[in-house]
Amino acid sequence: MSVSNEMQTLSEHIINCKRCELYKTRKNPVVGEGSDNADLLFIGEAPGSNEDKQGRPFVGRAGRILEELIDSIGLNRSDIYIANILKCRPPNNRNPTKNEIQTCAPYLEKQIDLINPSVILPMGSFATEFIFEKFNLPFTKISKLHGKLFSKQTLYHQIRILPLYHPAVATYNPNKKSVLLEDIKQVKPFILSKKTV
Ligand code: URA
Repeated sequence: MSVSNEMQTLSEHIINCKRCELYKTRKNPVVGEGSDNADLLFIGEAPGSNEDKQGRPFVGRAGRILEELIDSIGLNRSDIYIANILKCRPPNNRNPTKNEIQTCAPYLEKQIDLINPSVILPMGSFATEFIFEKFNLPFTKISKLHGKLFSKQTLYHQIRILPLYHPAVATYNPNKKSVLLEDIKQVKPFILSKKTV
């Protein structure tokens, strides 16, 4: 099966998912979006209220910051892939529970396998802890790890991991936006051949 067919099948599984209670309160699942062939995979925490309404990731205020970051490295949303750990919105944007993360994890794992990015950019603590655990890296705190590039050899290729602050922090702390803009520069050497024109 081609990657795009597998992504389509995965999307159908996510849309029909009832593996945890969140399907009862969310309006729309948010599968993720972008290029199946992206060099860069950005990972957030969970859909918020705008994402829940539209069924798309990062479409609110944090999304506008994310778009500025992507623009600053010469790309746009269709060049990258944006996913979340949880595909459904937790009520009132509460933190994801350990159980929800564990239950939803196979969907993100499959997205990582299919997209096979050069760099994973987990945004915020939850996504960074998830990715560090997956790749056997020692997680401390996002304030210590942001902007540092990590490298891991997988079975088939070398994958890089660049933790970032969650873009939402820049909506209430403008200083964090300059940190994000500085940190993201690190991925420039890994933007290879997959850019759309
Ligand atoms: N915050 C997230 O972590 N993900 C989204 O999709 C939107 C806001």
